[in-house]
Amino acid sequence: MIFVLGATGKVGRALVPALLDAGAAVRALTRDPAKARIDPRAEVVQADLDTANLPALFDGADRVFVLTQGAHRESAVAEAAARAGVTHLVKLSTTGVHFGQTDPITRAHAEAEQAVREAGPAWTILRPGAFMDNRFAWLGSIRDENAVYVPEGDPASALVHVRDIAAVATLALTTSGHEGATYELTGGEALTTGQQVAILADAIGRPVEFVEEPETAARERMVRRFGWPAAAVDGFFALKRESAAHEHIVFDTVGRLLGRPPLTFAKWARENAAAFTYHYGG
Ligand SMILES: NC(=O)c1ccc[n+]([C@@H]2O[C@H](COP(=O)([O-])OP(=O)(O)OC[C@H]3O[C@@H](n4cnc5c(N)ncnc54)[C@H](OP(=O)(O)O)[C@@H]3O)[C@@H](O)[C@H]2O)c1
Repeated sequence: MIFVLGATGKVGRALVPALLDAGAAVRALTRDPAKARIDPRAEVVQADLDTANLPALFDGADRVFVLTQGAHRESAVAEAAARAGVTHLVKLSTTGVHFGQTDPITRAHAEAEQAVREAGPAWTILRPGAFMDNRFAWLGSIRDENAVYVPEGDPASALVHVRDIAAVATLALTTSGHEGATYELTGGEALTTGQQVAILADAIGRPVEFVEEPETAARERMVRRFGWPAAAVDGFFALKRESAAHEHIVFDTVGRLLGRPPLTFAKWARENAAAFTYHYGG
């Protein structure tokens, strides 16, 4: 049985059905099964990783998809999984570790990778770059104002589709040959934010205004529109400052492992166009 942590998140929502389609038995973790919309073919387990009896939680699991926030939690998960007899851990990390970034989010992933490698079970590390799904942050301003605001100097980015991350995770969790491997995962092309907005506008079927704003204005918008705490905004910009130098770099891993090109941003935009058109009446 494969135990998926973060089963209701962006990656987990794509991973659970991919594993089930591959014929695996899946246990999916959530703190709130009433809210979670998890594929009914999976066994749903309710627990909070901060308070759960971890060894008991991993009882009966052969392989685990490790997605939690913070190095401390991930170390505890890796140790408990090892004690419960789990044979393979697949950890979701970030390309920032490959590039030696020193921002807090990336440092936490680097520490957690180390904990997973040292825990005892076989391991595979997946290091995706920025997700296409991050562009859901543009939903509110597109729906309300038909505009996208981005911080000045936002880099071109080889955004990756979460279904490609899920497909690689499925390979690592259901087939052999990925033990001890570390995979950097990106999309197949780097697009500027202006190009991304144009592609999304094309999918939605109307022009969308593209506005670059200074970092101070972008910070205010995150607090005002998204309700982010100041520390989270700081963490985001610290990561951004460092990742800007390499977000455009394309890795060929997805194509090599899956035997097909990575999913494109144009496909993502077509899949999600309806969500972006909901409010705007213009
Ligand atoms: N976004 C990017 O561009 C990007 C790029 C590279 C790497 N990453 C990494 O990807 C990871 C985020 O993945 P994601 O976007 O798929 O996640 P997400 O959408 O933020 O979802 C978080 C998941 O974690 C679960 N969770 C949170 N706290 C929990 C707790 N205390 N106990 C049990 N479960 C808990 C949530 O489950 P419930 O709420 O159902 O309990 C949910 O399934 C982060 O480590 C991030 O650094 C992101």
